Amino acid sequence: MRAPSYSEALEFAIDRSYDINLDMLRSRNLHLDMHNDYLVGTYPPLKAMGDLNAEKLLLQVSSSIDLYFHMPFCDQYCTFCHFAKEINPSSGRVERYLAALDKEMSWSDAALGGRAVETAFFGGGTPSFLTNRQLETLFGMISRRFDLSKSEVSFELHPSLAKQVDAADRISTLLRAGVNRFVLGVQSLDPSILRILNRGHHVDEVVQLVKLLNEMGVQNLSLDLMYGLPQQTLRSWYDSLIGLLDMGIEKFNVFPLMFKSTDPVARHLASGRYQFAGAKERIIMHFMAEHILTKLGYRHGPIFYWSKQSQPHSIQQSRKYDSWNDNNLVPFGVAGFGYMSQCQFYNEADLDRYLYRVEAGEKPVWKGVVLSQDDLMRRTVMFALRSSGVLLSRFEREFGVSIEKCFGRELELLNAAGLICISNGLLSLTAAGTINSGAVSLLFFSNNILERVAYNDSRIRDKRTDLLEKHDYSPAARYGSSAEMQVAFR
Ligand SMILES: C[S@@+](CC[C@H](N)C(=O)[O-])C[C@H]1O[C@@H](n2cnc3c(N)ncnc32)[C@H](O)[C@@H]1O
Ligand code: SF4
Repeated sequence: MRAPSYSEALEFAIDRSYDINLDMLRSRNLHLDMHNDYLVGTYPPLKAMGDLNAEKLLLQVSSSIDLYFHMPFCDQYCTFCHFAKEINPSSGRVERYLAALDKEMSWSDAALGGRAVETAFFGGGTPSFLTNRQLETLFGMISRRFDLSKSEVSFELHPSLAKQVDAADRISTLLRAGVNRFVLGVQSLDPSILRILNRGHHVDEVVQLVKLLNEMGVQNLSLDLMYGLPQQTLRSWYDSLIGLLDMGIEKFNVFPLMFKSTDPVARHLASGRYQFAGAKERIIMHFMAEHILTKLGYRHGPIFYWSKQSQPHSIQQSRKYDSWNDNNLVPFGVAGFGYMSQCQFYNEADLDRYLYRVEAGEKPVWKGVVLSQDDLMRRTVMFALRSSGVLLSRFEREFGVSIEKCFGRELELLNAAGLICISNGLLSLTAAGTINSGAVSLLFFSNNILERVAYNDSRIRDKRTDLLEKHDYSPAARYGSSAEMQVAFR
């Protein structure tokens, strides 16, 4: 099948964009402007959390678990990225971190031993920053504890791995260790955009790394792409996607650029230094990708995920969002966030504090919250909506009450605005709902959580340096006061 031409994709996308009535959605507070829109990655968000006794977390571990390992090191600071990382640390610093990870893991040996590991994810930062020897150390200590032989094991790569003389050795080490899914951050194939983003690599390195991975037999490769980038035109967006499709890529994570005020890209937007797509253009970019990928036989999976018909979607993403409280996400490392024993929690987000606490023999849990039954229902709905949808019968079975009874008003609002639909007992987002998923999630936040967010937010003295500010991504924290939020979202 031939990819749609630029003019065909554009015409389709412009046509579809008329279905999204931004004025109507704004008037009902169901569209967040791009400064305030952010994926709700945890519920409750960090700013609603308080102190949490780490021992609580291991009380009721589920029989199957998901693991997350954070690797907080990078070669450069990309302008859009707020993930916890240090730039170009010494090898001594990396090895000290690995020793701390080992110690942190050892504390849950008894509680986690024997659990089936469904998925393990190595994210960052840049996990591929580790040298071959450091990778061997990392996987050596993991394999002493966990059997990853039946798990989906994902590992994030940066294209600059292609510049390393031992790139093939590192990939071999990963394959031997059981890594069976690679996620490569590409973002764009436009050289001038890569430069503005300070990505630290050229297009050639993307091509070389994809080639190397193919030659080494890697079957499961997913590429991260972003739209709404500085100086990105509709044409440049089209060309990046088509360029990667021409390379035979079968899986994509297509992210809209999300802004955090502490990142350079937010300053670039505010200062007008670069051109950014507006709300309407971002919608057109979304539909261009949808049209091209659907035409070529790709399926939409959890919110940003696309994969070729023959390929399964990421199990890790599906388990994270379709969790229904029976999957536990166990994080290791700085700034990892997890979900265990009905608690949503974060590890220390500052690397020095993480190292200090672990080396002093303390579990590095920073903040957390035990979910009430009400918040658990809210979390389940907002997460499932972003993935396979909410099966109404399952909701009633799990919680003993119908979703209409709990969230009738929210469903009515979303349905009237065309953001959700129900078909064969499955509640899911429409295309308009997918584009406005941040606002949809926010509608399900409880008053209690919104008030806690507002209270903690009001206590932050310096937003430029505060760690809560830096690491809380949720859109709820973008609003100054509880009263403001009540007006905006109720
Ligand atoms: C930890 S990073 C990627 C791994 C690797 N360090 C790299 O840069 O290639 C994970 C992905 O999140 C996405 N991402 C990061 N910041 C984002 C933002 N502000 N808005 C949208 N997507 C973002 C990017 O597509 C990125 O590849
Ligand atoms: S996008 Fe990747 S390489 Fe760039 S700073 Fe973030 S984690 Fe590091």
